[in-house]
Amino acid sequence: MVDMTEHQLTSNSVTAAAPSSTANLGPGFDIFGLAVDAFDDYVTIKRSPTQNPDHGNISLQNPIDIDDEPSSQIRIEMIGQYHESIPVEVRRNSAGLALQKIIKEFDIRESFFVIVNKNIPPGFGMGSSAASAAAAVMAIDSLLDLHISKSDLVRFAAEGEKASAGALHYDNVAASILGGFVLIRPFPKIPEFIHITPPKNLRLVFAIPKLNVPAKKTELARKVLPEKVLLGHVIRTLSNASTIVAGFFSKDVNMIARGVEDIIVEPARKHLIPCFDNVRANALAAGALAVTISGAGPSIVAITSDEDQLEEIANSMRNGFKQCELTCTTVKCSPSQGARIVSKE
Ligand code: HSE
Repeated sequence: MVDMTEHQLTSNSVTAAAPSSTANLGPGFDIFGLAVDAFDDYVTIKRSPTQNPDHGNISLQNPIDIDDEPSSQIRIEMIGQYHESIPVEVRRNSAGLALQKIIKEFDIRESFFVIVNKNIPPGFGMGSSAASAAAAVMAIDSLLDLHISKSDLVRFAAEGEKASAGALHYDNVAASILGGFVLIRPFPKIPEFIHITPPKNLRLVFAIPKLNVPAKKTELARKVLPEKVLLGHVIRTLSNASTIVAGFFSKDVNMIARGVEDIIVEPARKHLIPCFDNVRANALAAGALAVTISGAGPSIVAITSDEDQLEEIANSMRNGFKQCELTCTTVKCSPSQGARIVSKE
């Protein structure tokens, strides 16, 4: 426990940014995450000028009822391109849930005003909820000088995933906080996050279809997964996942791509993405080295090492969705650094 009364009030407002990410990369369900520079969410946390039970401060404006629940110490405002679909209730907001966990664990008594600038399309498999949670934990850590380790920041941010996935998974938040490629070991009592710097020539194209995605899409996309799998499928998946890790270690995009084959999750989910097979076949024909569902979908990600092929791959993916009378946004991008503090006042 940290006694916040002993903390020097060094700053009043901190803004952090956290990148989008793609999870799974085919065979690495819940254990692989890659941060990508497609979009960033921004979270600003301000100390709230409200009654503080420790210091007995006077409430100035926008008073928040203080009770024993950490959620009452947080007030959230959503702004940005995709703010409308995200609830501001703390328990239904990934940034709110992650902050609530930190407030509780560190016995923090202050109140905070949290502004989430949502630029990552939510519900499309681009790590949107994870990025808001990642930026939120980075911001509060910096605002209160908590000096939380990166691994613990990932653990706190993962709490936020319960808002959209209904379950705790670390792949997107780990990538969003640590940047680059992250291999998750979720099973020890204290999970381990192994970071590997991606090859410099790794490029990705995302096709984000214009679909109405249901609320809690990730939770639904997890419900279609098989409970049992064949040993032969496990062996092939282990081989593929190991090939991806070896590819990241040896900075070999072709080796990474050879491992991007998912015979367990993708077959169970692809019916949720209209024209998935067309989009994949088109992208491969246009020169992509590998194609898979981005996270829980419905975005599809193609991998290449050739900058000159990006436009052709993007066009081919758009044409793939057109065959189902769907339009899509395509984004060409590279691996990203992790979450960062952008301003501190
Ligand atoms: N590993 C998670 C899933 C990622 O596939 O359900 C969600 O973005």
